[in-house]
Amino acid sequence: MRQNEEVVPEQVALDASAELSLRPKRLGEFIGQPKLKQNLDVFLRAAQGRCEVLDHLLLYGPPGLGKTTIAHIVAIEMGATIHVTSGPAIERPGDLVGILTNLEPGHRLSRPVEEILYPAMEDRKVDILIGKGPAARSIRLDLPEFTVVGATTRQGLLTGPLRDRFGIVSHFQYYDVDDLFEIICRSAGILGYAIDKDGALEIARRARGTPRIANRLLRRVRDFAQVDGLESITSASADKALDSLEVDHLGLDRVDRMLLKTLIEKYDGGPTGLETLAASTGEDSGTIEDVYEPYLLQQGLIQRTPRGRCATANAYRHLNIPEPKKNLGGLFEG
Ligand SMILES: Nc1ncnc2c1ncn2[C@@H]1O[C@H](COP(=O)(O)OP(=O)(O)OP(=O)(O)O)[C@@H](O)[C@H]1O
Ligand SMILES: [Mg+2]
Repeated sequence: MRQNEEVVPEQVALDASAELSLRPKRLGEFIGQPKLKQNLDVFLRAAQGRCEVLDHLLLYGPPGLGKTTIAHIVAIEMGATIHVTSGPAIERPGDLVGILTNLEPGHRLSRPVEEILYPAMEDRKVDILIGKGPAARSIRLDLPEFTVVGATTRQGLLTGPLRDRFGIVSHFQYYDVDDLFEIICRSAGILGYAIDKDGALEIARRARGTPRIANRLLRRVRDFAQVDGLESITSASADKALDSLEVDHLGLDRVDRMLLKTLIEKYDGGPTGLETLAASTGEDSGTIEDVYEPYLLQQGLIQRTPRGRCATANAYRHLNIPEPKKNLGGLFEG
């Protein structure tokens, strides 16, 4: 699990423990993602009815939409123990054998690791080599029953053969305002701070379709409300706090706007390649692709074309920059 945001360590620790306490524990508590939830509920009940473990499950979608939350829920619903690990933590095959004989890998698995994982996922067996030279023997170990829950922000990072070994693939969508509203009200209840309907709506509208951001904005808005001596969060206090946090009415933050502005002002609205955009904004290209771009695409502010990223008319409008008339010279480019 990545942590790309630059925040002071104490804040990370505090926010991490708050995130843990806000995390729904059962499928019934999980708000939104109706299709995903319905299907998963069927698969869970069917597996339980047969006294089998759940088929391997692959979760993918942008950060903060609930992949890890669902992984934990699956473990709880199945009455299983979860072993959490991440791609970078399993570098050598031996690391994986250790985990398998006790599993849930992340992304970016190395080739040799994938090769051990395939038979393990298919037949619940792992071959290990004991000894060296002529005396070396390969022995086959039977593994206990397990479900691999893979979580990734980019399905493209998984190789085809690995992806095909997941019996269930669930794709997370950005949450709509109603679902975020519900999540915020639930979280405010857990945090023990009153929030009125319009206050919750204001945060929901500006949370980038993402529960993690909704919860984080709620905690910051609460800070402002508390310091202002307010008993509850109102729409006016949420608005004031979110403006101070530089979160605009579409939920875009400073980095989102900087990306759009660079695209428009430095590259005439594009098309511009991802790497060029990364280099001229100082952001990591992977972070742009995983974290920023999906929401900008979903909001119709940028477009991905074979020749690169383009700003849309919406982007010009949102930033209040007049859209230039494309001159005919453009036709002869590239
Ligand atoms: N459907 C939901 N209902 C309520 N809260 C949610 C929901 N989904 C996510 N959350 C909240 O958002 C936080 C982030 O979710 P989670 O850690 O599961 O995201 P993720 O998809 O694993 O992100 P990453 O890709 O960064 O690992 C959780 O701690 C939880 O509080
Ligand atoms: Mg996660």
